[in-house]
Amino acid sequence: MGSTLDFLMDHADSGSVSFHMPGHKGAAFYRMHGYGDFAHRLIDCDVTEISGADNLFHADGILKEIADKYAKIYGAKRSFLLVNGTSCGIIAGILASVPRGGKIIMARNSHKSVYNALRLGDIKPVYVYPSVMENVGISGPVAASDIADALEENPDASAVILPNPDYYGICSDLTAIAKVVHEHGKVLIVDQAHGAHLKMMESCGELPLSAETAGADIVIGSTHKTLASLTQSAVMNLCSDRVDEALIEDKLQMIESSSPSYILMASLDVNADIIIKKGADLFKEWAQNVDWFYSRCGGWLMERSAFLDHTKLNIDASKLGCTGDELAGSLMEREIYPELWTGNILMCMTGIGTTREHLEKLAEVLEEIAERNDSETVNEASVENALPASAENALPASAEGELWAKRRETFAAAGHEEIRSLEESTGMLCAENIVPYPPGIPIICRGEKIDSEDVSFLKTLLERGHDVLGIRDGKVRCCKPL
Ligand SMILES: Cc1ncc(COP(=O)(O)O)c(C=O)c1O
Repeated sequence: MGSTLDFLMDHADSGSVSFHMPGHKGAAFYRMHGYGDFAHRLIDCDVTEISGADNLFHADGILKEIADKYAKIYGAKRSFLLVNGTSCGIIAGILASVPRGGKIIMARNSHKSVYNALRLGDIKPVYVYPSVMENVGISGPVAASDIADALEENPDASAVILPNPDYYGICSDLTAIAKVVHEHGKVLIVDQAHGAHLKMMESCGELPLSAETAGADIVIGSTHKTLASLTQSAVMNLCSDRVDEALIEDKLQMIESSSPSYILMASLDVNADIIIKKGADLFKEWAQNVDWFYSRCGGWLMERSAFLDHTKLNIDASKLGCTGDELAGSLMEREIYPELWTGNILMCMTGIGTTREHLEKLAEVLEEIAERNDSETVNEASVENALPASAENALPASAEGELWAKRRETFAAAGHEEIRSLEESTGMLCAENIVPYPPGIPIICRGEKIDSEDVSFLKTLLERGHDVLGIRDGKVRCCKPL
């Protein structure tokens, strides 16, 4: 195995087409928009808080100017630049909105950072489950009525959090959710990691509203995933007076590095400038390119709807006569890299840097694969081979939020952790979140019981070469229930 540097250099030379993060899709985008010099002189730009460079955690100079640009772009009361992804914004947003030991209403298909915030703030979750899109085996929207019920039953909850869009672009009716959350006097936090572009694309039509427009209080978006800033940079938007901005500042300084990268922050500046100066044309072109792709390959894609961010191209591999794994393999053989696949759904993530040529190449390869496959025979196999469901839907019955406190006590009392093989862990309590990555949604949370269904699902994922955090060499950390 070569070094990381060798790997990156080889990848850079490969001429591959990226349908994964980051959204800029390579240095060509920076060069095309006049930032080639920045890309070329990255190492010289790697400075720290020298005189004139401002301070991320007490910004009143050049960094504040960037944050102000974002506040204007998103129509936010205040924006915060993030150097540890949406993950750190989610943690800070939750810790600033929910008191220690308090309660939060959360979508069960939330990202692991939400679960980490629970641990850090000793916060009790009340789970709201997304619907399931049975035809494609992935999570659907979260219903506003389910959130309303949870709010009625839990007047002591301080906030509500959900991902919107989720990894596949599935959105919920955020306007209705914001209304019900605010009627109950609570804070709505939206994990918009996958939708930092939505605000700017509202004028392009046919895409779901951004969380900022829909009325959320705190919105965190990974500008690195779909826009042009570098990996790990992100933006947190505070859109109302319901949360104290000083509290957000305090939580962010607790969990981010005291040496924030100026390269990342400068890339946020570049991204903001490109949006301000050329956004109108770029977003229109992106939307048109995606429309073009749907008109050519729409028969293999998940149908467009008002609740889908269709810039994420969800390809149903079974319609091409293969499984998600097989399709991913065929694409990667041709140097096309998708973002993720679970079961038969493979998602190709477009971004601000996606060009018509990228989409043409993907279309050509899909057509070639469809022609090559005998759909009927392979379709049967694909059903057999499909994962039981996408990761976020394989939720164990034990994942009921109301039992959280009890389990946590049980867990503490049981005390002694053991390391067991997956097979021997059935019936034990999990000592560490078990998280297939991607999409980064815990299947079993710390303190929950591991059942035989979980074990067989996890074994299937491992056999198929998926990454599962919390499992090392086929073993998990767990302890006996009392
Ligand atoms: C739904 C969701 N939320 C949050 C995150 C975290 O974002 P980041 O990688 O910017 O920290 C991810 C990462 O993929 C995600 O999928």
